[in-house]
Amino acid sequence: MGRVFVAGSINMDVVATADRHPRIGETVAGTALLYFPGGKGANQAVSAAKLGAPTTLIGRLGTDAFGDQLKAFLGAQGVDLSFVQAAAGAQTGTAVITTANTDNTIVVIPGANALVSTADVASPVLAKGDIAVSQFEIPLPTIGAFFKRARAAGATTILNPAPAVEFGAELLELVDILILNETELSLLTKTELRDTDDPARFIEAARSLPIGNDSIICVTLGKRGVLALINGEPTIVAGRTVKAVDTTGAGDCFVGAVAALLAGGQSIGDALDYANAAASICVQRMGAAPSMPTAAEIEAVLSMGRRGGN
Ligand code: RIB
Repeated sequence: MGRVFVAGSINMDVVATADRHPRIGETVAGTALLYFPGGKGANQAVSAAKLGAPTTLIGRLGTDAFGDQLKAFLGAQGVDLSFVQAAAGAQTGTAVITTANTDNTIVVIPGANALVSTADVASPVLAKGDIAVSQFEIPLPTIGAFFKRARAAGATTILNPAPAVEFGAELLELVDILILNETELSLLTKTELRDTDDPARFIEAARSLPIGNDSIICVTLGKRGVLALINGEPTIVAGRTVKAVDTTGAGDCFVGAVAALLAGGQSIGDALDYANAAASICVQRMGAAPSMPTAAEIEAVLSMGRRGGN
């Protein structure tokens, strides 16, 4: 079995819940203030580790109470923290989230995440069969250096370009599997896409990305499921009908599950089905990292489907 290496952010998510989102300039009464471990890198590492993949997180925490709490939480989930450093004098990354009617808005203050450097990704030793995963809450040059090392070692690279920012073709050339949502696809292809659009529009947009023919593109479409281009051929994994309470971290759950399955030697098709089921469990719980499901929970959902349930 390969290892999963995640170079990415670690945040404390400070969540306000309300019946609806305030308009600009408006104040609304909230219903609760909650604290959850989060950050795209940490969420993806927890997702993979909970599915039994040996998982190493590369990142930085601040020297504050949030940093201590997140370190304890991540260690308890079985994530290897040997390459998570404390950044002296820096604040731990924090995400201020408003959740209303399952939708969220997020403002991220990077703090220590902005200090994850090319030197930080130079020490972990990757090997053939390993999976290297990253996202856009750490500096882009660090991701480039990480993927170059991963490629040189024969590992597979997965990029989740979230939150979406425009980036150079040289980084995309280092990506074996690109996992993104419709907003990110829209920005990267400069195409206006809506979640109600016909799948053909997403396929057309995904095909326009300047990425190698051997690379795989997965577009996560929320409750509509996942659309993937594998060897240029489109595949759709239908979404599962569930009662969502909080979609925060569902995309990260999906990415971590794909990485875990690939590290375990499964095919990309099987990994997508499994990750789709994993994300359907994640959205039924509040919070990001604590919502990641176990293998037993996913197996229960999949076997229910095999018996003719959802
Ligand atoms: O993808 C969800 C994550 O985005 C949250 O946990 C928050 O920390 C932000 O980074």
